[in-house]
Amino acid sequence: MNECVLPRPDDWHLHLRDGADMASVVGYSARQFGRALVMPNLKPPVVSVQMALAYRSRILAALGPASASFKPYMTLYLTDQTSADEVRAAAQSEDILAFKLYPAGATTNSESGVTDLRRCEAALAEMEKQGVVLCVHGEVTDPQVDVFDREAFFIDRVLIPLRQRFPGLRVVFEHITTSQAADYVRQAQEPIGATITPQHLLFNRNSLFQGGLRPHYYCLPVLKRESHRLALLEAATSGSPRFFLGTDSAPHARNTKEMDCGCAGCFSAPDALALYAQAFESVGRLDRLAGFASHHGAAFYGLESSSETIRLVRSAQTIAESLPFGNGGQTIVPLAAGQRLDWALAN
Ligand code: DOR
Ligand code: ZN
Repeated sequence: MNECVLPRPDDWHLHLRDGADMASVVGYSARQFGRALVMPNLKPPVVSVQMALAYRSRILAALGPASASFKPYMTLYLTDQTSADEVRAAAQSEDILAFKLYPAGATTNSESGVTDLRRCEAALAEMEKQGVVLCVHGEVTDPQVDVFDREAFFIDRVLIPLRQRFPGLRVVFEHITTSQAADYVRQAQEPIGATITPQHLLFNRNSLFQGGLRPHYYCLPVLKRESHRLALLEAATSGSPRFFLGTDSAPHARNTKEMDCGCAGCFSAPDALALYAQAFESVGRLDRLAGFASHHGAAFYGLESSSETIRLVRSAQTIAESLPFGNGGQTIVPLAAGQRLDWALAN
């Protein structure tokens, strides 16, 4: 196979930041994807419909003419204070698709996250009623739990009880990283889906320590051992509509990752689709890329797949070592910098 044609894909989990940082990265996603679900963990977090729509306007303005072919959908940041009224207002807006649950302290800018889901009962009940999706960062924050086990513990301690209380709640288990999560999503009662990132399909935790400490492979949930990577690859390429593309591309300036206490996040946006193609081809399943990248996520969110197509062609590329970021002369290191890719987007 030397080319792969698919409906224009969508990225169902994307961090864009704001201001000049956002303006410097959003074009990478717009070049490949038709739609993206934009995460709300700004500082301060996007907690209201009004903030989300203002943020969306800034994204479209930054894109300029490219905004004609890229539709950002927004998420609201769930907090202990989120009201049922805010959920109803979000449900009324066709540009807002979901709320995002960050357990407080779980990851980047999660300080305002949920301290106890019991404080969110009214909001969750309204989401269930309105059919608004809950996107979940699925890790417990209990410092007693080993960082590599935090996702598996989350399933038993939080996700299963939550879904027993709200069986109709539409849940996306974001950026799953373990065989336990893949198994849970595969066998659970509807309605549930999961996104999978390129880094968790391509790399295991050895990449964090390859010849030294590798901050550009550090994200949360952290990369896991090889058996988990293989389970995720199996899930993504299985054809199951429950698994779909969400890069979790999370831009951080180079100097904020290469430091004493570096930020979590892999910046995969520039070559996201080619990275996924690489992963699917590694198991001979490029034929399943269109389902994962272009159909399953849209269907979960109740949207049509794109009627446009894009074409990936076999063509050797090297991922950039570094790219400009923001407008202050900063740089950013993409995921798998300097590594070879076999696929490129034909324009
Ligand atoms: O690695 C991560 N980076 N994981 C997250 O959950 C958040 C993200 C970010 O915003 O940087
Ligand atoms: Zn994320």
